[in-house]
Amino acid sequence: MHRRQELLRTDRRVLVAPSVLSADFTRLGEECRSAVAAGGDLLHVDVMDGHFVPNLSMGPAICAAVRRAVPNTCIDVHLMVTDPAHFVRPFAEAGADHLQFHAEVVRDPGSLAASIRAAGMTPGVVLNPDTPAEACFDALAHVDTVMLMGVHPGYSGQSFIPSVLSKGPAIRARMTPAQRLMIDGGVSPATAAACRDAGCDVLISASAFFGAADRAAVARALRG
Ligand code: DX5
Ligand code: ZN
Repeated sequence: MHRRQELLRTDRRVLVAPSVLSADFTRLGEECRSAVAAGGDLLHVDVMDGHFVPNLSMGPAICAAVRRAVPNTCIDVHLMVTDPAHFVRPFAEAGADHLQFHAEVVRDPGSLAASIRAAGMTPGVVLNPDTPAEACFDALAHVDTVMLMGVHPGYSGQSFIPSVLSKGPAIRARMTPAQRLMIDGGVSPATAAACRDAGCDVLISASAFFGAADRAAVARALRG
């Protein structure tokens, strides 16, 4: 396991993951370095296929550019795609550390998680706002993280759906202490405390983080 990947397993602080979806793409490298300097613990890369979600975003080439910009930072790739297995190898080669797939599209999470580990990454499973907590229970024995979506995926800058947090305690109760509960979408200084109270310990933020004049202050507020 690469030392970048040990962050998710060993650092018990609440972690902050800026999502580069709201970065200024004309200055991507600078934005990645400044996000880390402002207190970002890992960087979140949103991959959309225009099918699982009604938008397109970035692919392995952008992930590889993020890797070159921040060689020592953990890269968390969120696959909002219908066929995640197809993208394991390309993102491993692009330098991803953690690869997350949606429970809604995977029938055999154990074998997908095994192929992610075999490619040198750690696996995570994601639940859409309307997907019940139970949908990740089969995957739990195979993944390092579960991520709750706080918005319907596809776009940054949407309003947080507070009811998703009711899934937190049920999932937390089935997790080992080494596993992490992530929350993505609508996370801001205004919603972070409720996320942490529900058991979330990795907070992803795109618009609230990159849109702030003082990003370090946002990182501190998210961490609590
Ligand atoms: C939503 C993406 C999120 C998004 C979050 O489809 O998966 O990671 O970047 O954006 P904000 O933080 O603006 O809600
Ligand atoms: Zn995401």
